[in-house]
Amino acid sequence: MNDTLTPPDASGLRTSPDGGGMIIDGKLISQGVLDATAAGAAKLVADAGITPGLAVVLVGEDPASQVYVGAKGKAAKSCGFHSVQHTLPASAAQADVLALVQQLNADPAIHGILVQLPLPQHIHAAEILEAISPAKDVDGFHPVNAGLIAIGEMARAFAPCTPAGALILIDRAAQALGLDLAGLEAVVVGRSNIVGKPMAQLLLARNCTVTIAHSRTRDLPGVVARADILVAAVGRPEMIHGDWIKPGAIVIDVGINRVPAEGLNAQGKPRTRLVGDVAFASAQRRAGAITPVPGGAGPMTIAMLMANTLQSARRSSQS
Ligand code: GUN
Repeated sequence: MNDTLTPPDASGLRTSPDGGGMIIDGKLISQGVLDATAAGAAKLVADAGITPGLAVVLVGEDPASQVYVGAKGKAAKSCGFHSVQHTLPASAAQADVLALVQQLNADPAIHGILVQLPLPQHIHAAEILEAISPAKDVDGFHPVNAGLIAIGEMARAFAPCTPAGALILIDRAAQALGLDLAGLEAVVVGRSNIVGKPMAQLLLARNCTVTIAHSRTRDLPGVVARADILVAAVGRPEMIHGDWIKPGAIVIDVGINRVPAEGLNAQGKPRTRLVGDVAFASAQRRAGAITPVPGGAGPMTIAMLMANTLQSARRSSQS
């Protein structure tokens, strides 16, 4: 994050001295979600004697997955949760993973189960995800939760963490810009089951007029130019040009793409840097508010996983 920017106000938005749109500080806003979740967990322990429990399952040794799983365990502990990690070898059989999921489904100390993706090639991921009890599916990947989101039963569902986090950022930006989401044109670029489709459903539930664009969309610049709210989740570095953005739009960039940078790092290897799906500098000049990459939508995902786990623990105390 650029240190020359003014400090964020309580809403988590910063103005830039160079003008252009406000910068949405996802790190700060996600910390607020984590703090509220930790407070909610402490209250649940005090009131009902229930400590939220999150189990994370890692199959194999994918280095990126190890980092993600470690970060999830750390966040769970920071919220005061009971946090467990189960690591199975890459050679684990489908039945081994299913048996572990069944064991966690039956464990009353566990309120959230997350099986880290991607799974090894020989594992049928859909069958594993569908074996997780929908009541403990804090990733929001189970078809029951996808269905509840699709029919607008948000209060009973778990929404997938990335779009749920993006919606909080949109709300903060809309508040800062004095906008009401109802009736705004929202364009979601990307149609994945875990980001694009649920993002569109969440925006529809907030009465936006929603378009889902994707790799086969004709005239993507023209579609993007209509967006009062743009969510980019295609995984293609800087494919959305700044001059496509409608002036004043809220821009949420979910993409995290590693691209070559100039020069060599300390180990003498070519440098890389992270960029989003939106060309940030030119888009920021036109946007009303925009997320940076990194430090925008990314940090919200883990925070929402914790919020979902607390929600699951609360529901368990009510049933
Ligand atoms: N792999 C990358 N992101 C995610 C996520 O949000 N949930 C799971 N289960 N696996 C992932």
